[in-house]
Amino acid sequence: MLHITLRQLHVFEAVSRHLSYSRAAETLHLSQPAVSMQIKQLEESAGVPLFEQLGKKIYLTEVGKEFQQYCRNILQQLTDAESMLADFKGMSGKLSICVASTASYFTPYLLAEFCRRHPQTRVSLSVTNREIVLQRLTNNEMDMAIMGRPPENLDLDATPFMDNRLAIIAPTNHPLANEHDIPLSRLAKETFLVREQGSGTRITVERFFAERGIALTTGTEMSTNEAIKQAVQAGMGLGILSLHTVLLELETRRLTVLDVQNFPIQRHWYVVHRKGKRLSTVAQTFKDFLLEGVELLGDQVNAEHDKEYPANL
Ligand code: PGA
Repeated sequence: MLHITLRQLHVFEAVSRHLSYSRAAETLHLSQPAVSMQIKQLEESAGVPLFEQLGKKIYLTEVGKEFQQYCRNILQQLTDAESMLADFKGMSGKLSICVASTASYFTPYLLAEFCRRHPQTRVSLSVTNREIVLQRLTNNEMDMAIMGRPPENLDLDATPFMDNRLAIIAPTNHPLANEHDIPLSRLAKETFLVREQGSGTRITVERFFAERGIALTTGTEMSTNEAIKQAVQAGMGLGILSLHTVLLELETRRLTVLDVQNFPIQRHWYVVHRKGKRLSTVAQTFKDFLLEGVELLGDQVNAEHDKEYPANL
């Protein structure tokens, strides 16, 4: 095992750059004998000469040249580590979040506002379904996640910060579109398009109907909210989706929300991370920002929040 010190590496780097003990001593604010001593000790530990003196000049030996490369790499890594640590402590670090696919309909608005407030922050956003979000949380692969209710059996810190309402979506020309207070039993005759296994929306829907003893007729399974929206518009069946996902279609009247008893299903969005996780300054600031409340956030988010569904449709 090579016994060398960081100080020796710094001295070696300076001497090899200037090819002069006196210039290196000047740059490092050391005496020339101190520099020579460090190089001597380094060469002893290395077991090979790193410099050679020919006439009045010093040169790197062949092995010295190779060692110079390693030395630069090591010192560069140290500089990188230093700036990473500084980033962790300040707002110029990276925020890495993972969101359930449904949350991707509002998360960009939150991030846009957050980045306006903290322009030096870099963000990495990964969008996937609930199951994968949970896997990544378990593996501690990101700062935090935004998801629907997380399971209680995992060691997670989960705080609700926004409402999430699930409604029954139909094409505007659907026979039930103009009816009010539709009993759940009427839905038995309808076909429902469902999200894939592992989706939080799917779990919620299945639980909701199972608790009420109603068996849903499920049609095609689709892995994105977008596909379900298109399929509902195309008349393939009804969908049960978070209202966040259909704002535009409701506004442009391509889709409508059915006025069904016990709907919308009231849920929440949670900001989630492993219990005991040491959040970076950026991550903690983002979490605080979410918990400040949706009323402080962008209009796009509030627009959905303020609306009464389905009464004003
Ligand atoms: P998802 O949404 O259906 O996109 O996984 C998560 C959730 O609503 O819990």
